[in-house]
Amino acid sequence: MSHVLTMEDWGKQEIHDLLHKAQCFADNPEKYPFQRLYAANLFFEPSTRTKISFEAAERNLGLDLLHFEADTSSVKKGESLYDTVKTLESIGADVIVIRHGKERYFDELRDHIHIPIINGGDGCGHHPTQSFLDLLTIKQEFGMFENIKVVIAGDIFHSRVARSNMEVLERLGADVYVSGPKEWMNEEMLPRYVPMDEAVELADVMMMLRIQHERHAVKMVAGPEKYHERYGLNEEKASRMKKNSIIMHPAPINRNVELADALVESPRSRIFKQMKNGVFVRMAVLWDVLEKYKGPLWKR
Ligand code: NCD
Repeated sequence: MSHVLTMEDWGKQEIHDLLHKAQCFADNPEKYPFQRLYAANLFFEPSTRTKISFEAAERNLGLDLLHFEADTSSVKKGESLYDTVKTLESIGADVIVIRHGKERYFDELRDHIHIPIINGGDGCGHHPTQSFLDLLTIKQEFGMFENIKVVIAGDIFHSRVARSNMEVLERLGADVYVSGPKEWMNEEMLPRYVPMDEAVELADVMMMLRIQHERHAVKMVAGPEKYHERYGLNEEKASRMKKNSIIMHPAPINRNVELADALVESPRSRIFKQMKNGVFVRMAVLWDVLEKYKGPLWKR
């Protein structure tokens, strides 16, 4: 079954093909409606961008949506994730998007669910469609990944975005560095550490991350101002970035914590471009898994 669960499952050629497909959607305002197919988005954690852009992608492709709200579903009566997904599959969903707080929630589903599952984020684990939109944004900017210096900065340890991106960017030939508090890095990450002052001068891409307070076992002591000063990207540091370097952030952004307010919409920022690309890569991912599951989807 062709689920989309982690970036590690994607070979290099498959990644390039997917990015190509997404770029075709980006370049081509024409719509390619599916035959009647149902999508269900199961979000058990808060989401704005991922949920809405999946919805936009599904509607752009002509998919029908089966609405699901965790708070008003039988999950509230104790129904398990497995039984919820099995129910949607039985009712007729053709593809299912899941975001869940449990890392690798998909392990109990992947061999028993016969429709494609697309992972919209699992705890601190993986976030493949965020990676695809980040890859598309970097590719649009630099045309390639080889030797592009990407600094991922902030709460690396608790970030599924960082985890998915570090692995795939490195595999595609980028030079990946990390910055931010060392307490949020493990043994594997530490050799890639660069202090923020050096990071800003070295990076082609500064990928800033939100502090994942909801995933911290022990509450952070340093206040937002202190964090901003030590680990955040402020205007002074940004002024030392290379001429063509860009700023990325998966959002939501805590303005003036990891990133200065004035930089969010500055010329270097690609944050809103990332969101736009989110729709195209999700169209491409949906198309890809449905085609593998159903056969050719073109109407004409
Ligand atoms: C990220 C996530 O949920 O992992 N957001 C997103 O999907 N755009 C990052 C975050 O919440 O900090």
